[in-house]
Amino acid sequence: LLPTSLFQFERTRPMRLAAYRRAELARRGRVVEVGAGECPVAAEVAARTGRAVWAVDLERPAAVPEGVRPLRGDAHHLSFTDGSLDAVLFHFVLLWLQDPVGALREARRVLARDGVLLVLAEPDLTARRDEPDTGLGRALADAVRKAGGHPDAGSCLEEWLKAAGFRAELQRTPEEWVEIADPAECLHEVKALREAGALSSHEAEAMAAAERDAEGERRVALPLSWAVAWSQSR
Ligand SMILES: C[S@@+](CC[C@H](N)C(=O)[O-])C[C@H]1O[C@@H](n2cnc3c(N)ncnc32)[C@H](O)[C@@H]1O
Repeated sequence: LLPTSLFQFERTRPMRLAAYRRAELARRGRVVEVGAGECPVAAEVAARTGRAVWAVDLERPAAVPEGVRPLRGDAHHLSFTDGSLDAVLFHFVLLWLQDPVGALREARRVLARDGVLLVLAEPDLTARRDEPDTGLGRALADAVRKAGGHPDAGSCLEEWLKAAGFRAELQRTPEEWVEIADPAECLHEVKALREAGALSSHEAEAMAAAERDAEGERRVALPLSWAVAWSQSR
C-alpha cells in the first residue's frame, strides 16, 4: 500500500496540529494510531505529548521512531479491551480499508466514554486534479479501488462516522492548487504504484517520464477531509 506522500504530510501539518488541539491530545494518556505505516503521525504525537503512542498496522515499520510502540494488528479487530483508550487516530487510512464503518465501530468500542477519535487527511482521490495530467491521480484512485478500498473516502467520512455512532466536527481543506516544485514527490508515488503492482513497468516508465517533463509546472489539487469525533452515547 502507498505511504502518505511527502507533499501531503508536510503541507497538512497545520491541519493536524489544529485537530490535536481540538481533541486535547496533550492531556490524553493512552493514544493509539491505527494504520500507522511508517509512523510519522504517531511520532509527531509522541514528540508533542511526551508520551508513548501505540502504532497498529498490518505491517511493522521499517524503523521505529522514538516514542512509538509498534503493534501488529488489524483495524477491523483491535486487540485492546472495551473502553481502554483515550484517543484513536487514523491518518490517510480509511480509504484503504475493506470496511471503514466496521473499523470506526471498532475504534468506538476501544475508546473510553470521554475518549476522542481523530480521522485525519482522508482524501477524495476521485476529485483529485493533476496539471499537467500525467495520469497519476487516476492511477492512485484505481489502485485503491482494486485493493478493495474507497478512493472517495473523504466524501463518505461524515456518513461513515454517523453510521459508526460518532458525533463529529468535520472540515474539508479548500480545493487549492499545490505547486509541486520537486518531481521527486510525484516520482515517489509512481514508484510506489509500480511496487504495489498497480502499474506495469512500461506504464510506470511512461508516467515517470511525463512527471519529469512536467517539472516546474506541476500542480495538484486534492480535497482532504478531517474529523474530530466523540461517541454519540457519551
Ligand atoms: C496510506 S498508509 C498511511 C500510513 C500512515 N498513517 C501515514 O499517514 O503515513 C495506509 C496504512 O494502512 C495500513 N493498513 C491497511 N489496511 C489495514 C488494516 N486492515 N489494519 C491495519 N492497518 C492497515 C497499511 O499497511 C498502511 O501502512
